[in-house]
Order: sequence, then C-alpha cells, then structure tokens
Amino acid sequence: MGFLDAACREPRAWDLTGKVLANQPISGGLWRLDLALPHEVPCAPGQFAMLHPYERTQLVFRRPYSILAAQDATMSFLYRVVGRGSSLLAGLSQGEPVACLAPLGRPFPAPDAQTPAVLLLAGGVGLPPLHAWLERYGRPGDLPCFGGRDGGDVPWPLLPPPWHVAVERLSGVPSDREVFQGLVTDLALRQLAAAAAREYLVLACGPMPLLRAAAALAAARGWPCLVSVEEHMGCGYGVCKGCVVPLRDPASPAGWRNVNTCTDGPVFAAGDLDWDRFGSRQGGGAS
Ligand SMILES: Cc1cc2nc3c(=O)[nH]c(=O)nc-3n(C[C@H](O)[C@H](O)[C@H](O)COP(=O)(O)OP(=O)(O)OC[C@H]3O[C@@H](n4cnc5c(N)ncnc54)[C@H](O)[C@@H]3O)c2cc1C
Ligand code: FES
Repeated sequence: MGFLDAACREPRAWDLTGKVLANQPISGGLWRLDLALPHEVPCAPGQFAMLHPYERTQLVFRRPYSILAAQDATMSFLYRVVGRGSSLLAGLSQGEPVACLAPLGRPFPAPDAQTPAVLLLAGGVGLPPLHAWLERYGRPGDLPCFGGRDGGDVPWPLLPPPWHVAVERLSGVPSDREVFQGLVTDLALRQLAAAAAREYLVLACGPMPLLRAAAALAAARGWPCLVSVEEHMGCGYGVCKGCVVPLRDPASPAGWRNVNTCTDGPVFAAGDLDWDRFGSRQGGGAS
C-alpha cells in the first residue's frame, strides 16, 4: 500500500525505530534517505515525520521532514544538509537506526470531481509533499513546476516530465535537460499562457518568498491556493508551541491568532494566513 487519501488518513502517529535502507546524495547538496520501518505506516501526501538519528547524537529535538514516498513498510525523505541534525542524518550508513514519529500534520487534500487542474509550485526541499501528491493524485492537465538556485539544487532523478524545471543560474544543469532560467513562478506563468485550462488550484511548498508569490499569483486570478509551511519545530505534535504561525481571524479581538504548524498545518489555505505578520521572523537552529 502507498499513500492513503487525505480523507481516510491515519488518525494516529507511530513512534518507531526505522533502519536505514539507503542514504545517498541525489544531486548537489540534496540527499535521499530510505528507511525500513517495522510495519507499514499509512500516511497522506503533505504529512511529515520527526526524525532523530539517536545513536549518533545528543540532539534534544527530532527534526521535521516531509514524507517523499511511502510504500509498504518503507518511507523515504529528501533532505538538504543545513546544520547539526541534517549533517548527522547524512552520516548514517545502511542498517543504522533512526527514530521516526509519523505520520504528522494535515495533508494536502485529494482532488474530487469539482477540483480544477492543479498547478504545483515546489522550491528546493519543498518538493517532497508535492512530488508525493502528484504521484498519488496527478491527472492529465496538472502543471508541476520545480525551482532551484542552480543545477546542483535540483534532484533530477525525481523530476522527469511532466515536471518543468526553473533554475536561477544554469551551472550544473545536465546537457540533456531543458530548463527555464528564472524563478519558478515566472516558469509557471509561461506554462499557464500555453495551457488549455483556465482555472487552477495552486499547491505550493518551498521558501517563504515562493509561498508569498504563489499566494499572490493565485489571489490575482481568484484561484484557490494551499501552501505547506516549513516552520521551525520542536516537538512536532502540539506541545512546545515552537512552530506557531499567524492566521487571520475576524472573530478574535486582534483580528488574528496563532496556530500550530505541526497540528493545524503544515498545509494552510493561503488566504487564511496573515502574511503581514508571517515570514518576517528569523530563527536560529534547533538543539
Ligand atoms: C513540516 C516540515 C517539513 C520539512 N520537510 C523538509 C524536507 O522534506 N527536507 C528538508 O531538507 N527539510 C525539510 N524541513 C526543514 C528541516 O526540518 C530543517 O532543515 C531541519 O530541521 C534542519 O535541522 P538541522 O539540525 O540540520 O539544522 P539546525 O542546526 O537546526 O539549523 C541550521 C540552519 O537551518 C535553519 N533552519 C532550521 N530549520 C528550518 C526550517 N524549518 N526552515 C528554514 N530554515 C530552517 C536554521 O535557522 C539555521 O540557520 C521541513 C520542515 C518542516 C517544519
Ligand atoms: S512543534 Fe511543538 S507545538 Fe508545533
């Protein structure tokens, strides 16, 4: 069994010890980790796991990673090495244990008969939820677009057609791959001009500027838009309040309120987020 529909997603998370099946660089600074779990863990595209290579480290907190693929008792992740936790992950060899709490968070929804074509906008390590969504639910007419800084920032084996790829700089792009030079939203605008569909649901995951641009692109056309927010996290299950994001709330005296990314998200309707308060914060690394 692979990913479940969002509607029948597993209501509980499992706290398991997985074993590394494979852990390899996939392109430039991006790595793919495949874990063998003790049993199948039903999950939906957009959900995430909290991972901890506990035999290697004194890290206090697990680290959140979106689920790239789930098949039978195997779960896969795509990650970039940015700090202590991810460096330790990259050092893991076949057979080493990894604590894995999954599945967590609200997923991207499954399309139904009313859902228009879907424009997917993925940036960097924001790819896994959208890759999983396209694999599980993709239909003819959906438009998947990925953006990276340069060719080394693109996990090429995961992006065969129909994926379209944008890079800001052409260095490291394989000679047999056609790319758009510029931002992924500019690539999307070019593809939209040539596409048959006139209305889209926009799904986005990636850095904050991409989420903002995706929300603006959708709002300008009156299209619905869902974004997956990759906030810093401590616990991953609603206790530490280290992951709050501001949501518009006309019913509250201030007009907005904080919600947890880990339990209320990470997928939110773009129109519900309070973009003026969101995304201007800078955080440090986790312990
Ligand atoms: C729901 C969710 C899903 C995620 N999915 C993925 C994924 O599929 N692949 C992936 O590579 N990463 C993903 N991330 C981000 C990943 O969790 C962080 O990169 C990781 O926690 C960094 O841990 P570290 O110990 O290596 O870095 P730290 O030592 O903790 O930090 C190193 C640097 O990275 C920055 N950083 C840490 N966490 C984040 C973050 N969430 N967003 C932006 N900057 C951060 C810190 O500010 C610091 O500058 C996801 C985050 C969330 C919340
Ligand atoms: S990460 Fe602890 S409450 Fe969300």
